[in-house]
Amino acid sequence: MAVPRLEAYRSQDGNLAAPQASAGVHQLLDLRLEGGLEDLVGEVKTLAAAAEKHKDEPEEQQKHIEALLEALTKIVDASADEDCAEEIGFLGGHALATRLLERCAMWDDCRAVDLVADWTSVTLTTLGKLMREAPVGALDDRPRPFVVHLANDTEVILREVRDDHSEAAHGDKANVRVGYKLWGGAVVLATALLEMGAKGSLEGKRVLELGAGLGLCGLAAGRSDFGAAAVVLTDFHPRIVSNLAYNIAVNDLETPRCSAQVLDWEDLDAAFEDEVDDKFDLIIGSDIVCQALDCELVGRVLTRLLRPNGAGVALVTLGSADSRFGVEAFAPAMKAAGLECRETILPVPDVCLPASEGSQARGEVFLGTARAYVSFEITTATRLEAS
Ligand SMILES: C[S@@+](CC[C@H](N)C(=O)[O-])C[C@H]1O[C@@H](n2cnc3c(N)ncnc32)[C@H](O)[C@@H]1O
Repeated sequence: MAVPRLEAYRSQDGNLAAPQASAGVHQLLDLRLEGGLEDLVGEVKTLAAAAEKHKDEPEEQQKHIEALLEALTKIVDASADEDCAEEIGFLGGHALATRLLERCAMWDDCRAVDLVADWTSVTLTTLGKLMREAPVGALDDRPRPFVVHLANDTEVILREVRDDHSEAAHGDKANVRVGYKLWGGAVVLATALLEMGAKGSLEGKRVLELGAGLGLCGLAAGRSDFGAAAVVLTDFHPRIVSNLAYNIAVNDLETPRCSAQVLDWEDLDAAFEDEVDDKFDLIIGSDIVCQALDCELVGRVLTRLLRPNGAGVALVTLGSADSRFGVEAFAPAMKAAGLECRETILPVPDVCLPASEGSQARGEVFLGTARAYVSFEITTATRLEAS
């Protein structure tokens, strides 16, 4: 299966150093996306059959058992990733594991029995969870991770949020699915954050992402070589937040330095209960305005969580007002909240996948009708410190 690719949105100066690619992440992606899991399950089947065939030739059989142990180790490692465990289950993995358990017992090999037992428990747990969450017909609709290529070979892996196919889980937030995919503003802001990080501007900073969706911006800011003290990716729905935690893990970002947390702008008291005095140096948000009311809410969040007296900065990138509802209310709302706000207009990023309007397609950047993006730089400079 081809990996969906998003062409780089190249920065003008192009001075960014390439990040260290993590072998773990790329192995996982190869396994997940390039048919590697199917090959692995096939290898286990073939080796198990070969070991069986040579049951009267102990030396020959042992060779096949050793190769089988290697393949089983890979399967157990891959099963630590919930998507991989699920995929292995769908490839018939747990039925195969059950059959193998009997054979391993006959071979009298404890290592094989242990490996197969680990594998069985992890695939069955994942599959059980999935069966509880999704109706049978929805199982093929599982989101796949895809790679976003940003400036200077920076790659970020994103998995879109899985739909839970249940009305109740969406509560009263009718538009919860807007956070299930990647928006153009995230590509613009993530690119700016990579430039800031490369210049050392994120060193030691506490960073908060609002309405993170898939978390591209926070994941870019969270690169360990940028040295931020903390990067907290937030959104209002637990389903989006658990996917954010997955995206942090799949990009090998350090936890707890990078973390995912629920933050509903309408229920600020529930967030950061113990941390109200521990404000943020940098608050980021991309395409976080879908209606005028959002501007007022974001203004309140910034007032509460940005470090006071000009020490904190917020960077918010939004599709321009002619393409998105509510954006025209953003600058006035910041002013009304006592914040200072400067605007820069940026072109639509050069992303290669078609920006099909209203598209929910997997692995695409959602641009909608946006022809330009506005980046707002917001500070607390002129505001008297809240008591
Ligand atoms: C248009 S999406 C943008 C997602 C992401 N920032 C991006 O650019 O790809 C808007 C995001 O704001 C979040 N959001 C909307 N209302 C919110 C609220 N009251 N509290 C927190 N997040 C909210 C949504 O869940 C969604 O993830």
